[in-house]
Amino acid sequence: MKILVATEKPFAPVAISLIRDVTDSTGHELTLLENYKDVSELLAAVTDADALIVRSDKVTADVLDAAKKLRIVVRAGAGYDNLDLEACTAHNVVAMNTPGQNSNAVAELAFEMMLYHARGGFGGKSGTELRGKSLGLHAFGNVGKYMAEIGKGFGMELFAFDPFVGDEDMKMAGVTPCKSPEELYSKCRYISLHMPANEKTKKSIGYDFFKIMPEAAVLVNTARKEVIDEEALLKIFEERNDFSYLSDVEPDSKAVFEEKYKGRFIFTAKKMGAQTEEANINAGVAAAKQIVDYFSTGNEKFRVNK
Ligand code: 3PG
Repeated sequence: MKILVATEKPFAPVAISLIRDVTDSTGHELTLLENYKDVSELLAAVTDADALIVRSDKVTADVLDAAKKLRIVVRAGAGYDNLDLEACTAHNVVAMNTPGQNSNAVAELAFEMMLYHARGGFGGKSGTELRGKSLGLHAFGNVGKYMAEIGKGFGMELFAFDPFVGDEDMKMAGVTPCKSPEELYSKCRYISLHMPANEKTKKSIGYDFFKIMPEAAVLVNTARKEVIDEEALLKIFEERNDFSYLSDVEPDSKAVFEEKYKGRFIFTAKKMGAQTEEANINAGVAAAKQIVDYFSTGNEKFRVNK
């Protein structure tokens, strides 16, 4: 079978070589479309692919129309908001993700941004420490659990809210469960977001949460920019000069932040959370193995469409 890796933001070379080991050793053919600049390149590359591995690359109905032979697409990563699941189902294409494989990298980036910000961007002025500060995890999935582990090491006080995770699981991880997002936001100086972007969560993080955060509030977003209500964020920035926003990916209103709120934000230019060799290897190899397994045994364990 022909397995295409199509990544606008490429995997580390070492990950590609390990993905190739998986496909070569099982008699499949690996083809690469890396660093592509235009969707037309993707449309041309998918025409003869039986399987597709992507990252945040958009798999739309157009891509699926062009991919006449496609049977499976795997998003090498956690969030699959870039896959048109209905179109996948309509085209008889199995869609999967690789949950947990890049989570540690994302959690480390959240801490990297928190540390850099706490020390004022290493500008020479006196900063603050993470020890003893409260960290609220809004959603407690794979990334949230790594956040708790690292936060414990820094001596932070840990809280979480997640309607889908039981209190016992949080307590076992050394985290105090909160009954509502309001409780979480009112208790925590640092709030870190770890929910997926979907119809329920889009624009769900807004003013009512921001306004109840304690002094020197820091909102950390390594999830998706879509979950933030940006108008509300700008309103709180205007009202509170002790509010900061650290985000993996620039918000739509980046220019306003740059003009008015220097020193109170960090934005990565490209989504960097999963951009480590280790995460690329874990997610890329898992994606390749899931495809090989699907072709040989029909295993659909990580399927996300019906
Ligand atoms: C994910 O959902 O797995 C992360 O956001 C990583 O996305 P990326 O593979 O595009 O870096």
